[in-house]
Amino acid sequence: AREPSVRQFDFVVVGSGIAGLSYALKVAPYGKVAVITKDGASEGCTRYAQGGVCAVLDPLDSIEKHARDTMVAGAFLNDPKAVDVVCREGPARVLELVQLGADFTRNGDGSLHLTREGGHSDRRIVHAADLTGAEIERALLAAARATGNVEFFEHHLAVDLVTDEVDGAPHCFGVDVLDTRGHKMCRFLSLATMLASGGAGQVYPNTTNPQVATGDGIAMAYRAGAAVSNMEFVQFHPTALYSPPRADGGGDAGRTFLISEAVRGEGGVLLNTRGERFMPSYDERLELAPRDVVARAIQDQMTSTASDHVWLDISHKPAADLLHHFPNIAARCKEEGIDITRDPIPVLPAQHYTCGGVSAGLRGETGVQGLYACGEVACSGLHGANRLASNSLLEGLVFADRAAGPSVAHAEYALRRCGRQLHYAAASADFSGARAARPLAGPVRQWAAAKRAELRGAMWRAAGIVRRRRELSEAHAAVSALSAEVSAVMAGHGVAAGLVELSNLATCGELILSCALQRRESRGGHYMPEFPAPAPGAPRPSVAALPRGGAG
Ligand code: SIN
Repeated sequence: AREPSVRQFDFVVVGSGIAGLSYALKVAPYGKVAVITKDGASEGCTRYAQGGVCAVLDPLDSIEKHARDTMVAGAFLNDPKAVDVVCREGPARVLELVQLGADFTRNGDGSLHLTREGGHSDRRIVHAADLTGAEIERALLAAARATGNVEFFEHHLAVDLVTDEVDGAPHCFGVDVLDTRGHKMCRFLSLATMLASGGAGQVYPNTTNPQVATGDGIAMAYRAGAAVSNMEFVQFHPTALYSPPRADGGGDAGRTFLISEAVRGEGGVLLNTRGERFMPSYDERLELAPRDVVARAIQDQMTSTASDHVWLDISHKPAADLLHHFPNIAARCKEEGIDITRDPIPVLPAQHYTCGGVSAGLRGETGVQGLYACGEVACSGLHGANRLASNSLLEGLVFADRAAGPSVAHAEYALRRCGRQLHYAAASADFSGARAARPLAGPVRQWAAAKRAELRGAMWRAAGIVRRRRELSEAHAAVSALSAEVSAVMAGHGVAAGLVELSNLATCGELILSCALQRRESRGGHYMPEFPAPAPGAPRPSVAALPRGGAG
């Protein structure tokens, strides 16, 4: 039977990582939920998270200390209210995961084992060896599939939000989606829509993020008129595995393998290629300084020793402990001929996390009615200018929970105000011409691949670990021109995943560059030698928004 081109749900969730699935589980008792996800449901950043999810569970630790560590890592650009709710509500959310069946590493007495990472004044990272995200994703997917009220649409790429004005305010009615296997467009109407589609790591050539991280939710929300904040704060993880490209094409397709910060948390030291430990010359917190500090130190050492990596050495620790805590890292390193119990690991910084995103309030609400955002796609104010390690999974959990109640209330309002046939041309989605699905082929496919590489190179050169105004301005002009070029090609071609993603990547690139140009200071993940210190006075978030009416 032919699939309908308009489908109706109570809640539509874009993304199937920790934020999207947690939200889906929370709203499922109140209505029918669709989870739109552009690859298999488990493929996303959550699955690759190694180190863990932090929560104050040790009686000697405190919410205040966790909040303080989060603010220090975020260079005090954080919203203290967001920090407070996440640190305070986090432990209960993590324990819910345990109840759901997430099998975290335990101590001999059965209590949760807590590891340590950079910027944390205490041991507070709950983990499942070094495969924490994979275990959480497994547990959440199993629970969501068991509810019977959550329908998964895998290999479905969200293309654009469906919006209209109600009582003079922008309002979201769902999302237009490309079925990438069936090559057709479909409109998913919803009473409340949750964006939980992750960050934009693929804007950079070297990233720990999988290929799906193309900033789709951020770009879509921006096009729909939502404000986007703090995009200049790109987190570079200090220690990704340095592995030269393999002739057989194997390895970590499109992403750089992460060497968890927990390796430094458990005593790993950084050495330059001359074998010298260098962190003591940069920061008294040594290898456990916040990530931007360590990433800049590594970059500096790579430049001064003219090398393309440094070493991370944990071979002085007992081999059995290492293999117990880091089985995944040990196995991946072994593929490269590295035995982590004897050899140092070659590492370099790689893009890891998008600290900014769609501006969202304490209940996940955005500037568009009926549209919520949580997890990496959102800028909740938690991370400020740089994210504290293991706060990302936690943020997804807390805000998914906080957004559920208001979403249900909004769904009831939308039903009363607009009726089940949501007034927005519900039955007449027009997917012809430029809005029709058309697979990418031949020269256009090659053109899109070349443009993507061009964009990523430009972003790394201008908006990498160290930034300069002139380079930011030049890159902004180039990326804006690229964005316009992609729009023109799309208008003539029709909807193809490769073009939609390229367009979203270009939009996110533009947003990173324009937010970076707003900031004449160095703070957290944004470092400019021309302005080497934080500006005096209260720090302010950067904001980008289209004029009312949106881009179309
Ligand atoms: C890691 O294991 O180093 C990643 C943890 C995080 O990014 O929060």
